[in-house]
Amino acid sequence: MTTQIKSRAQYLEEYAASVNDPEAFWRKEAETFKWQQPFDAVVDWDFRELNVKWFLNGKLNITENCLDRHIENRGDQLALIWEPNGADEASKGYTYKELLAEVNRCANGLKSKGVQKGDRVIFYMPMIPELAIAVLACARIGAIHSVVFAGFSAQALTDRVDDAEAKMIICADYNRRGYKNIPVKQVVDEAMDIGCNSVESVLVFKNTGDEVNWSDDVDCWWSDIVTDQSDICRPEIMDSEDVLFILYTSGSTGKPKGVVHTCGGYMVYTCYSFRNVFQYQEGDIYWCTADIGWITGHSYILYGPLLAGATSMMFEGVPTYPDAGRFWAICEKHRVNQFYTAPTAIRALMARGDEWPAKYDLSALKVLGSVGEPINEEAWHWYNDKIGKGKAPIVDTWWQTETGGIMLSPLPHITDTKPTYAGYPLPGIQPVLVNSDGKILNDNNVEGLLCIKFPWPSMIRTTYGDHNRCKEVYFSMFDNLYFTGDGARRDEDGRIRVIGRVDDVINVSGHRMGTAEVENAINEQESVIESAVVGYPHPIKGQGIYAFIISSAKKLDDELKLEICKTVSKEIGPIAKPDCIQFVDGLPKTRSGKIMRRILRKIASDDDAHLGDISTLLNPDIVELIKKGAIRR
Ligand code: WTA
Repeated sequence: MTTQIKSRAQYLEEYAASVNDPEAFWRKEAETFKWQQPFDAVVDWDFRELNVKWFLNGKLNITENCLDRHIENRGDQLALIWEPNGADEASKGYTYKELLAEVNRCANGLKSKGVQKGDRVIFYMPMIPELAIAVLACARIGAIHSVVFAGFSAQALTDRVDDAEAKMIICADYNRRGYKNIPVKQVVDEAMDIGCNSVESVLVFKNTGDEVNWSDDVDCWWSDIVTDQSDICRPEIMDSEDVLFILYTSGSTGKPKGVVHTCGGYMVYTCYSFRNVFQYQEGDIYWCTADIGWITGHSYILYGPLLAGATSMMFEGVPTYPDAGRFWAICEKHRVNQFYTAPTAIRALMARGDEWPAKYDLSALKVLGSVGEPINEEAWHWYNDKIGKGKAPIVDTWWQTETGGIMLSPLPHITDTKPTYAGYPLPGIQPVLVNSDGKILNDNNVEGLLCIKFPWPSMIRTTYGDHNRCKEVYFSMFDNLYFTGDGARRDEDGRIRVIGRVDDVINVSGHRMGTAEVENAINEQESVIESAVVGYPHPIKGQGIYAFIISSAKKLDDELKLEICKTVSKEIGPIAKPDCIQFVDGLPKTRSGKIMRRILRKIASDDDAHLGDISTLLNPDIVELIKKGAIRR
């Protein structure tokens, strides 16, 4: 097993070692895994040309490390616990032995449909065990998985399938979420109608058994393909730098990009970070509430915990079904020891009142995690006091789809916590703050742009099909640095607080969205001439979406707003629907025609008393008009 830090002194020692001799540091951690063939160099990197390789020429299979490796010592220990949507339904557990058998059966099923090493498989699934099983089955045979969050629309699904040129889609008939029964097979059917020409088969898991449309040419049932397969499947031998998965995420421009992660480095870092950040001990029950459609679910429901031999729980439903006590009921029921969720969920549950957590026995909790967006002070204290009772430290974990694993976080019971601060870097992570000229700010008590100056094993390797884009977005802003897109401040003791994005990415309920992406969707509504989207502070979601829209429609009314929201739902999904729509006659632009978002952000945020100098705008008069019509909350 990778090192588990036990004291502050050890943290400081490990950190220093990781900076002074990164190769020796990571060699030691990597050697704790099972390699089919040892790697012959630790790292080879060049940020300028963007070439990063870890554990060169090592051969491995990540599922052998997640599963087979544990059979001898913990074969009968639970690997996964699944908590269903309905509170009165039975939960389900899979021991490491059982999970391995299921993964192998599924892997053989995928092979029988012609899926081979290097093929891309897209997932559009609910949070059921079969999602975990099939993802691992892909990794078993070297197929590249790309999980699409099942809240995305048919169009968004098609975009991802087409970009990845996927051979197969795996979905369920219906997804259950709270009271809803969502026809996801139907969404896949629509996606297949719009595009998805590369797809040869759609593998459907019968989740609810409700009726679906069927096309014998492509559709096949899980039960026909998987269930009767052998439970033995030799793991495909992968190179450290073979692609493990693609995960699509939004940036400030263009369509979502496919972040590429590879086998060796991702394996080493997710296990290392999991064991340290959550201080997982034998017998603990660990629960991360994320959806596997996001990176948090990949790294900290599946890979990290399984690599560490943990018992990891996954939950099908939503925090407020059947009532606002569900999370806490589950914590009590399974005696959860480490609980990892997002600020938006904490704020939503906090708003329902203290009586909900008070009803349940939360005494098993030892560590509370937060991820996805900055956690505000009020939510931090509520989480700390009402859920952790002051005894379970909050690990405010900062990281990104691109980083693959947690980068900044307190180590619970080891380093201190400070409200709203993600704190110190994990060993191996070298963050720096730079000013807008790219000058590294060495002092404490400064604010700047967050960059990373040395590679780490689970970092993004490329964006699928477009290496240049990756280089441009992350490595060309500042010389020889990875740029995160976030602004941050460092306090007098060196702790880091991540304030939020400095680019045109907004974070709505922990979901990343590009403003350009939302604008493009809005512009698809036929009356829309032009639009500009900005984020504004939202009490529950963290950020809300505010859209300024020029429309040619005769009636600029609520009905039109509804139409626009429908269009956005169709293009991206309901998560991207604007919270506020303001119809305007024009947008403030610079003389070169660029929209002045700074001004719009201030108006949307109700913070437009001092807009600064606007006289250089092409159309300064429009600003007063927009201010007058602004939606105030
Ligand atoms: C934001 C999620 C403040 C940040 C793992 C980052 C955070 C983006 C935190 C990545 C945190 C994530 N404090 N901000 N603890 N965690 N963020 O790719 O802006 O979905 O750039 O990865 O979320 O979002 P992503």
